[in-house]
Amino acid sequence: MAQPSTKILRPDRAGVARAAQLLSTGALVAFPTETVYGLGANARDGKAVAKIYAAKGRPRFNPLIVHLPDAAMARDLVRWSDTAEILATAFWPGPLTLVLPLRADNGLSSLVTAGLDTVALRVPAHSTAQKMLHAFGGPVAAPSANPSGRISPTTATHVLSGLDGQIAAVLDDGPCTVGLESTIVGLTQKTPVLLRAGGLPREAIEAALGAPLDLHTRGAISAPGQLASHYAPRAQVRLNAQNPQDDEVFLGFGSMPADLNLSPSGDLTEAAANLFDHLHQLDGMRRPIAVAAIPQNGLGAAINDRLRRAAAPR
Ligand code: TXA
Ligand code: MG
Repeated sequence: MAQPSTKILRPDRAGVARAAQLLSTGALVAFPTETVYGLGANARDGKAVAKIYAAKGRPRFNPLIVHLPDAAMARDLVRWSDTAEILATAFWPGPLTLVLPLRADNGLSSLVTAGLDTVALRVPAHSTAQKMLHAFGGPVAAPSANPSGRISPTTATHVLSGLDGQIAAVLDDGPCTVGLESTIVGLTQKTPVLLRAGGLPREAIEAALGAPLDLHTRGAISAPGQLASHYAPRAQVRLNAQNPQDDEVFLGFGSMPADLNLSPSGDLTEAAANLFDHLHQLDGMRRPIAVAAIPQNGLGAAINDRLRRAAAPR
């Protein structure tokens, strides 16, 4: 039997309305955010959320980020705090996810939180995501729209290459501008904790707080970004390379000859936006990948984090 194919929706009024309507019927809809494409489901509908885990082939213990149209809705779901207020005021909408203690009457499917008593919340800045979330009017659970453990999607084409036929629709609004998943900050302890480096540089968060973030170093995996092999291309990846060897393809940074270059001018924002797309392209060449050294400041921390995971043995 032929597989049902995934509908591609345009980011106009009709496409956004259709995406919201599909979500309300319990279907899966991939949608653009400024970070990466998300695989959305109604976060109050356990059956819909279960479809996310099935489509991604995702281990059940990984909790999902809940996307909201605005910060006001967050207060109905979690116990808000002064620190949450500071960070939400400074960075929402935007590439920041906050982990907060759940309220008892939250209405979310327990599959979203994987049974934890905390939840990860994010208000994306992307205008099409904003329109879809406002049209839907409720919380949308959404991990990145890729099969579990594979490279994150920054275009609708990437989404379809991993999930065509397994999701109802993808709302296509071109490439993501940030290109790295959101930065995750845990607000369930006295000191805010950096749980995942991402599209908002740690320096910006610390400046807003006027204090350093704790680094998440304990053994427990509270974010799958912390599994060693995540964001993995099929090809082998070698880091901090000065030149390609043998049959390697070379991913450059700054002024140097390369098969693809994350940013010929050495701009980390541009490099972040290109990272997953370039990895997808090089992976398609079915040759080992060598990657130039990337500076560790600003967005470089998150870029290097994703590259280390792409290169990890598996
Ligand atoms: O930019 C992003 O964050 C993208 C877009 C679609 O918004 N989403 C994304 O979701 O990267 P996902 O599911 O691939 O990553 C969610 C991360 C995981 O590392 C998960 O473990 C962590 O959020 N997380 C979710 N709930 C959590 C919780 N209660 N405590 C700690 N970490 C949590
Ligand atoms: Mg992901």
